[in-house]
Amino acid sequence: MTRLKNQADLDGIRASARVLREALDSVRAAVVPGVTTAELDAIASQVIADHGAKAAFLGYMDYPATLCVSVNEEVIHGIPGERTLNDGDIVSLDVGVELGGYFSDAACTVPVGKIDGQVADLLATTEECLQRAVGAAKAGARVRDIAVAVTELAESAGYSVVRQYCGHGVGFQQHEDPQVPNYPSDEGNPRLKPGMVLAVEPMLNLGDWEVEVLADGWTVVTSDRRPSAHFEHTIAILDDRTEVLTAA
Ligand code: MF3
Ligand code: CO
Repeated sequence: MTRLKNQADLDGIRASARVLREALDSVRAAVVPGVTTAELDAIASQVIADHGAKAAFLGYMDYPATLCVSVNEEVIHGIPGERTLNDGDIVSLDVGVELGGYFSDAACTVPVGKIDGQVADLLATTEECLQRAVGAAKAGARVRDIAVAVTELAESAGYSVVRQYCGHGVGFQQHEDPQVPNYPSDEGNPRLKPGMVLAVEPMLNLGDWEVEVLADGWTVVTSDRRPSAHFEHTIAILDDRTEVLTAA
């Protein structure tokens, strides 16, 4: 069952999302050739701590870091470490924040130095898929409308949509009902109601949609090892509009 958020809850999630936005902006500004993924993780941890907030991913199912940092063919859940980012890489930055018991979740994929034009188009298209997803996520619509919006744009641009991982409800916990697929599914298709808060997070691949998990038990990579991009916002379904809580 989906427990809806009231006004006080929404204010709490807004405050969490503001900290998240500052953390993500700070990390993003530090993405240059030569930086290590652990250095990016440390920046996010510092901003979150400065606000008296908590890193929502740290310790979640024993995840060992604040950020997920996923490079090139890594789709999601890359673990920060001593790896150095190089000119021409793309890097997905995903962070979750808990403040006063309220959770927010957001991600973006950014270029490192100068990247290939085709890969730049993958990034732009994935971000546009997120915008379309937000546009489809209106009170009275259904969860599948989000997947249809994402998949139509992604496939018309020649990219594939990752099917094994979904968006999700968020706010009271890191992951709540409902699941929010990016690819149309036959499973539950609930109607979107005012008071729902969702993490919407399309993942697009340059090649095929299949992915696999590396031996570290976390890092999800494309099976064909071609690049992948990921953009995520936490959004609130309101009576008359949808609010992007993690907007820049
Ligand atoms: N944003 C991702 C998600 O919603 C990352 C969380 S996985 C974690 O699933 F284990 F790192 F927390
Ligand atoms: Co998420």
